[in-house]
Amino acid sequence: MDSIGDRYHEYTKIRRGRVPEVKARRAAGVFRLPEPLPEEGMGIWECIAKRRSVREYSPLPLSLEELSQLLWACQGITEPYFRLRAAPSAGALYPLETYVVVNNVEKLERGVYRYLVEEHALEMRLRGDLRRSIASAALEQEFIADAGAVFVWTAVPERTKSRYGERGWRYIYKDAAHACANLYLAAVALELGCCAIGACFDDEVNQLLGIDGVTETVVYLASVGRRLP
Ligand SMILES: Cc1cc2nc3c(=O)[nH]c(=O)nc-3n(C[C@H](O)[C@H](O)[C@H](O)COP(=O)(O)O)c2cc1C
Repeated sequence: MDSIGDRYHEYTKIRRGRVPEVKARRAAGVFRLPEPLPEEGMGIWECIAKRRSVREYSPLPLSLEELSQLLWACQGITEPYFRLRAAPSAGALYPLETYVVVNNVEKLERGVYRYLVEEHALEMRLRGDLRRSIASAALEQEFIADAGAVFVWTAVPERTKSRYGERGWRYIYKDAAHACANLYLAAVALELGCCAIGACFDDEVNQLLGIDGVTETVVYLASVGRRLP
């Protein structure tokens, strides 16, 4: 925790003094996701042309099929032999973990889930209504509470730093940007709205996910919801 990269990362965290209480209960359970359907949706050029950050969401829920497709687009396995994923990763070391704060998704209880890449499944970590907590931890950006789901990418820095040393931090953030870019385009293809979120009280997000902020720490978030008509 005293290398230059770790100190830089710690030094650039946004903090506040009072940490709001998170009202949720620990939970466990694995939920298989429906098979992703990559052939559905609009073409890539139209998706790129139409991509915008969308910060207003309808109160209608996301479907489990949509969530499955979005997770697959970010980090799903697309090459079965070497277990390569939809988004590129420096050295194929895959330092990212993907969590989903479920606010409003059909057939899923509200709470925090971790994406199990190999199983294409969700593991429930925390049960409860975290709409206010996640918006508050993301620098009080209120629109986040209205999103159907909030994607949170964390990094286990050692996975990348074990090969690349301190330069690994650069790659970790690039990995996260690739995952989020895929999420944006997949959301357009499904006619959903998405917004990248870099502004957060890092340790509040870490606390919400139940991670220590050192061996695993938040690096990026994105909200997704149904667009307003
Ligand atoms: C690294 C990064 C962090 C961002 N953080 C936020 C954020 O915290 N809140 C937000 O509303 N938008 C955030 N955005 C979205 C940008 O504001 C948005 O991409 C920009 O205004 C351009 O608009 P467009 O995405 O519609 O093209 C972020 C984008 C990036 C790439």
